[in-house]
Amino acid sequence: MGLKVSDLAPRALQSEIRAMTAECQRMGGVNLAQGVCDTDPPEVVLREAKAAMDAGFNQYTRMEGIERLRVAVAAEVSARHGLGVDPEGEVLITSGATGAFHATAMALLNPGDEVIVFEPFYGYHPGTLRALRMVPVVVSLTGDDWALDIDAMRAAVTERTRAVLINTPGNPSGKIFSLAELEAVATLALEHNLFVFTDEIYEHFTYGKRPHIPMRTLPGMRERTITMSGYSKTYSVTGWRIGTVVADARWTPSISYFHDMTYVCAPAPLQHGVAAGLETLDAGFYKGLATEHLSKRTMLVEALLDAGLTPHLPEGAYYILADVSRLPGETASEKARWLLRETGVAGVAGSAFFRPGGGEGLMRFCFAKKDAELKEACERLGALRG
Ligand SMILES: Cc1ncc(COP(=O)(O)O)c(C=O)c1O
Repeated sequence: MGLKVSDLAPRALQSEIRAMTAECQRMGGVNLAQGVCDTDPPEVVLREAKAAMDAGFNQYTRMEGIERLRVAVAAEVSARHGLGVDPEGEVLITSGATGAFHATAMALLNPGDEVIVFEPFYGYHPGTLRALRMVPVVVSLTGDDWALDIDAMRAAVTERTRAVLINTPGNPSGKIFSLAELEAVATLALEHNLFVFTDEIYEHFTYGKRPHIPMRTLPGMRERTITMSGYSKTYSVTGWRIGTVVADARWTPSISYFHDMTYVCAPAPLQHGVAAGLETLDAGFYKGLATEHLSKRTMLVEALLDAGLTPHLPEGAYYILADVSRLPGETASEKARWLLRETGVAGVAGSAFFRPGGGEGLMRFCFAKKDAELKEACERLGALRG
């Protein structure tokens, strides 16, 4: 009858992460595949979101987000960045960091524009660009510590390049871009007049080797950096969909317009809950988050080493990429399914984070789990010992 899906739709496959999660649920395994934090949200955040519902904050908000939350975000970010942020013109509340990136790409790029993305990547980054008919140009990070190859990055620039996308601390690698690496990206952006989109959703999850440095704090970068983040991970509320954009007032009206077209606004009462968190939780909370996850990292690193699945030690975020080349199976996907069958532990095939052919000897394991569940996963991995 002539009706058909779009040209892109046949290529849209179910994400490997969701597939592993479904498989894991079916067999009652321990799910270290999906990046959902099983740790509890801060009590004040939950309480104030419920109170906001009871108080009648259940309708659309301003498209930029409620003033209370924009003010709280501006205060927190300007204190941490050491740079003023105007809550009226420079902050948007979005439907997660995901909505932030979608709206940013819609607002600032045209179809066919190229964006440099580093590999291993978070699949939504190239996926969102492709969905919008833009072109992710992938540059590999190199070596055990996923170092930036400056020459390769420079070689990837063409006359269609409009932006560089940085995810730091990174998913899945845990890489934190060093100051020298950020400076190299900044130099390139200034030279070629590029935007830098930064996904900093794991900004509070750092384990000591390097601090997280926000790109917008580098000289000359404030105007051209679109800083995207959110509270999914920090407050353990991935289902709430509260994200942020901090950007120059030249860009926020357009980003806000496109965010409005897709999402209208972020959930009203949940914006109040997150604002309450920002208003009341002190530095100790954020430090505690890192300390708590560092001990979870240690637990999983030891179990992986013990099981002969050599881990890359992540500097930030809450995932570990481990070498699973010794497991049976031709591909990472087969190895991941073998591991789930044999031990009941679900991880994600490394190939989900690389171009075709890459990541086949790797798997990603998430350690943002309650200790009891993580301990069980570690014990189950022990079956591979010897
Ligand atoms: C790098 C990265 N960015 C964004 C997201 C999603 O963030 P949000 O829930 O705020 O949309 C994730 C979730 O796993 C992520 O790993």
